[in-house]
Amino acid sequence: MESLTLTNREATIALGEKIGRQLVAGDVLVLDGDLGAGKTTFTKGLAVGLEIPDIIKSPTFTIIHEYQDGRLPLYHMDVYRLENGGAEDLGLEEYFDGDGVSVVEWAKYVEDELPADFLAIHFKRTDDDNTRLLEFAPHGTHFDQIVKSVVK
Ligand SMILES: Nc1ncnc2c1ncn2[C@@H]1O[C@H](COP(=O)(O)OP(=O)(O)O)[C@@H](O)[C@H]1O
Ligand SMILES: [Mg+2]
Repeated sequence: MESLTLTNREATIALGEKIGRQLVAGDVLVLDGDLGAGKTTFTKGLAVGLEIPDIIKSPTFTIIHEYQDGRLPLYHMDVYRLENGGAEDLGLEEYFDGDGVSVVEWAKYVEDELPADFLAIHFKRTDDDNTRLLEFAPHGTHFDQIVKSVVK
């Protein structure tokens, strides 16, 4: 498993930007890890890489936020509230097969809906308040290449 240690928030945003620049329509990224682990912070960086001018906010109360003003649309989903089911009713395939990039926080609740190719990133807090450990699980050659480009 490829992993990266990021010692501050800016490094997580920079990583998101670097990955965001390489994304194409239909890409799906799934992010897991505890509250405060850095999933939304990483997504802010992705949005920079997608040239989205808007400020990315946590979509917890709406489940899906759509950003249409970048190089590609970004569909940012936080499915935390689906812990008791309901993922099949969201119509996720339409987002996943669509013209944009889908990012799902708390992806364990939508496991059954995922496409064949996707990039899973697990975020872990550490003893240091500002340090996060990221583990990458790429599925498909496109995401293999992206992970290779960001791990040393
Ligand atoms: N290396 C780091 N990477 C990401 N966030 C960090 C880091 N160090 C500190 N933080 C802080 O941790 C918090 C992460 O929050 P957030 O990205 O909303 O997490 P999540 O979406 O996983 O719940 C933010 O307050 C951020 O400033
Ligand atoms: Mg979040």
